[in-house]
Amino acid sequence: MTPNKLRLGINIDHVATVRNARGGAAPDPVRAALMAQAAGADGITAHLREDRRHITDVDIERLVDALTVPLNFEMAATPEMQAIALRHKPHAVCIVPEKREERTTEGGLEVAREENALAHYIAPLRDAGCRVSIFIAADQRQIEAAHRIGAQVIELHTGAYCDADAEGRLDARDKELGKLTEMAEFAHDLGLEVHAGHGLTYDCVTPIAVLPQVMELNIGHFLIGEAIFRGLGPAIAEMRRLMDAARA
Ligand code: PXP
Repeated sequence: MTPNKLRLGINIDHVATVRNARGGAAPDPVRAALMAQAAGADGITAHLREDRRHITDVDIERLVDALTVPLNFEMAATPEMQAIALRHKPHAVCIVPEKREERTTEGGLEVAREENALAHYIAPLRDAGCRVSIFIAADQRQIEAAHRIGAQVIELHTGAYCDADAEGRLDARDKELGKLTEMAEFAHDLGLEVHAGHGLTYDCVTPIAVLPQVMELNIGHFLIGEAIFRGLGPAIAEMRRLMDAARA
């Protein structure tokens, strides 16, 4: 298949993490989102966690008002988050597993075991016009279940691949990359739109960006950190450059 242009979604959660460390208003994640938009982000991703550890309800309201690019609202499958999503009707929702004790979203959602409940959960979101994505491991069972419940998109969790790459565990990295490659193709053949994200950096993005079925990458932590050194716009521009080069 001919690769299409790969979209870049910028996750601005960790601007809010830094803000919340002091409890004031700065740095403002909405300002970061507008800068990311100006730097060529195709979308903005924000995760309203149940414990509000970074993004807040007010941040989401302000993002909905301020953005001209699509907002991808990351959320746990809870009644509270469903009500918030239905109130704002963001362009996209991404359903993620959430544990209080984790530092970040560690794994993909267990869809196969919760198929009925999740099918009922996402139906109103789809009816409201939100594109529903499920954050998922590169696992055929989970992908088939995501397809059966009516999700339009799956986002493949790239964390294990990125960790193995960063730690120089090359066999593990290649094994994870093999699974991601195979499952991107499998999901695409089922008719799902395929996204990927978690842990991506300049060093490990290229093998994911070359996968022709992948339509969007969502990247946060590394780019917000890199922005300290080169500024947010240039940090995003470099990621965009690497993605475009991989796709060329
Ligand atoms: N995609 C999803 C579904 C996520 O939960 C996260 C982390 O919040 C990301 C992408 C971005 O991961 P990172 O911050 O490691 O780039």
